[in-house]
Amino acid sequence: MTFSDRLPSDRTLVRGRVLSFKRRPQGAGDKGAYTYVEDGLVVIDAGRVTDVVDAREIGRVGGKDVILHDFSGKLILPGFIDTHIHFPQTQVIASYGEQLLEWLTRYTFPAESRYGNPVFAAAQARFFIDELLRNGTTTAVCYGSVHKGSAEALLAESERRGTAMFVGKTAMDRNAPPDVLDSAQSAYDDTAALIADWHGRGRQKVVITPRFAITSTPGQLEALGSLARAHPDCLMQTHLSENLEEIATVRRLFPESADYLDVYDHYGLIGPRSLMGHAIHLTPREISRMSESGAVAVFCPTSNLFIGSGLFDYKGLENGPHPVRIALATDVGGGTSYSMLATAAEAYKVMQLKGQKLSALEAFHLITRGNAEAIGESDLGRIQSGAHADLVVLDSSATPAMAHRLAAGNSDIEEELFVLMTLGGERNVCEVFVGGQPQGMRQATG
Ligand code: GUN
Ligand code: ZN
Repeated sequence: MTFSDRLPSDRTLVRGRVLSFKRRPQGAGDKGAYTYVEDGLVVIDAGRVTDVVDAREIGRVGGKDVILHDFSGKLILPGFIDTHIHFPQTQVIASYGEQLLEWLTRYTFPAESRYGNPVFAAAQARFFIDELLRNGTTTAVCYGSVHKGSAEALLAESERRGTAMFVGKTAMDRNAPPDVLDSAQSAYDDTAALIADWHGRGRQKVVITPRFAITSTPGQLEALGSLARAHPDCLMQTHLSENLEEIATVRRLFPESADYLDVYDHYGLIGPRSLMGHAIHLTPREISRMSESGAVAVFCPTSNLFIGSGLFDYKGLENGPHPVRIALATDVGGGTSYSMLATAAEAYKVMQLKGQKLSALEAFHLITRGNAEAIGESDLGRIQSGAHADLVVLDSSATPAMAHRLAAGNSDIEEELFVLMTLGGERNVCEVFVGGQPQGMRQATG
């Protein structure tokens, strides 16, 4: 059982089985890629991890007024990071029967139009961050709606909660209904104002966000490209080569471009800060350009399966002659789960269909340190001195099926992680710490 207790000292300690990655695992069994302390204490001061020690050292790291959160036996991991999620699609998730372009028209654009109302957007922001935390996700890279106020609502809520969120106002100035359109100028002005007001304010960051080539005019891409050049520390996020009809439409709209990636490249939007959602149907030229530029291909398995977009070539991109950086994401509401555990499970299945393997070590590295590296955040996604104390505490036996599976015995940490990603979800999340503060998930989940 978990409980909190006060000892004589002045910092926060979290006790449990502490797992953190040092580098990308080469595959199953790569024990050198991680540190694992069977009975450990995460030592936290002023929102940051200062040490990870064996629990026997409690006398040394304790002191006056220390708060001890005792999760003995539970797994403590860095809070999960979701690198692609749509804030205004929480009521789009699980919409029936369409592929990308019809799905956008029928469900998504109407739902996003409601985020022009700031009161509605603020209420949705509370739900959205609650839902992320319930699933152990402490940082996400988010698309807002076209309305600047939607990004502001989410950034303000994140600031209130102390989470680190990366948020963009989605830019789209054609091929959608008028109530979800901006213009080249207003997208530039609104994004520039968001950057001025919010980028680097506390833990919040602003992302330059052209939705995709179909909904941006050349003038808008040009404007956002110049903004990206002026703010090289901002991430840029968009969608790339998700669906065959989408790709054919981009070809028609930009006949002078070599391919889909080249549309963004032409406007200076491609580089190591670029997060390219989906990137399923890439040509050899696009792969080599992705590799050369350092742009990140964001694998969104539940979405790619649900919208019927295709099978991401993870190992082909990772180990090909032109290696591409890869991140993992839910893509809610095209995606069907907020859980990075469930997302890892679907990634595994997609890779099985491609004759590839995703080991539990690679998956857990991806949803923590790997995704942090993809977004260039060296103080996230790891439990080590100096990192933000964003943690998730997991009970691998939270459901009867999981407890029963693990009771077969002889499970090492890798096997436990594989069971956790394959069968797990929000029910496994016992607690989440944001900047060292417990979020009270046990009360929330009962
Ligand atoms: N392409 C352009 N917009 C979207 C979106 O909202 N979701 C997905 N999955 N693909 C997109
Ligand atoms: Zn998306």
